Amino acid sequence: MKGIVLAGGTATRLGELTRITNKHLLPIGDYPMIYYPLQALQRAGITEICLISGKEHAGRFIELLGDGTVVDRTGVEVFNLDITYRMQTKPGGIAQAIALAKNFVGNDKFVVVLGDNIMEYSIAPYVKKFVEQSDGARILLWKPENSSAYGVPDIDEEAKTIRQVEEKPKNPKSLYAVIGVYMLDSRVFEYARQILPSARGELEVTDLLNEYIKHSRLEYDILQGWWRDAGQSQRELHEISALIYETGANK
Ligand code: DAU
Repeated sequence: MKGIVLAGGTATRLGELTRITNKHLLPIGDYPMIYYPLQALQRAGITEICLISGKEHAGRFIELLGDGTVVDRTGVEVFNLDITYRMQTKPGGIAQAIALAKNFVGNDKFVVVLGDNIMEYSIAPYVKKFVEQSDGARILLWKPENSSAYGVPDIDEEAKTIRQVEEKPKNPKSLYAVIGVYMLDSRVFEYARQILPSARGELEVTDLLNEYIKHSRLEYDILQGWWRDAGQSQRELHEISALIYETGANK
């Protein structure tokens, strides 16, 4: 299975920290932010990866990650990945960025991880379930303090299905957030052509998920351990670093 890491976008919420550098290169714990989603994929056994970034900082990602074999200054191997790079010239939304990976993915199933998402535990068990799933998509849910800052699922608890996913709703229909790990099949490229830009002018990942729901092809799991979206505020970057030092990440 192949993996996609998204590192485009504009990072308007991190103020001066992203004036001259890219959000995903900022330090969290002992590493640049982008190491965590890459490590999440590697630990789930996914080594063939497409990294999608904006063009301003694309060179920095290549400098940092090269072909995907990364050895730290003490000689310890951090990654042994096979990385392909793609450019998203304008940040037109997560769904637009995913669509750029069409040729890379072909007809395989694949896993997208947002470049600013960090998790306590390995996603390997969920990816295993997705491998066993015949087709469709699989997402992970987690209960944050305030779900309305994220994509929010409306869950039918009895049927154990999701009725709809809403992007940053004012009145969220559940306490869960859809985290930035999307397990998808190649049908998503057809859906990406069908959806329209949202009020904020982006092709939203939540609309892709709603297409899967229309076809009864969306499964979900509740993520164990903690999850954070490191793109929310400067203060949270420090809090997430503290969490990583306390418990580790992608364990
Ligand atoms: O973190 C989980 C949340 O991520 C989900 O619950 C939301 O449904 C989803 O829309 C997203 O919300 P954010 O507001 O946090 O998205 P953000 O604009 O911060 O982008 C998330 C990542 O995707 C970020 O690492 C950069 C990348 N990205 C984003 C956009 C808009 C791209 O590569 N290209 C883009 O055009």
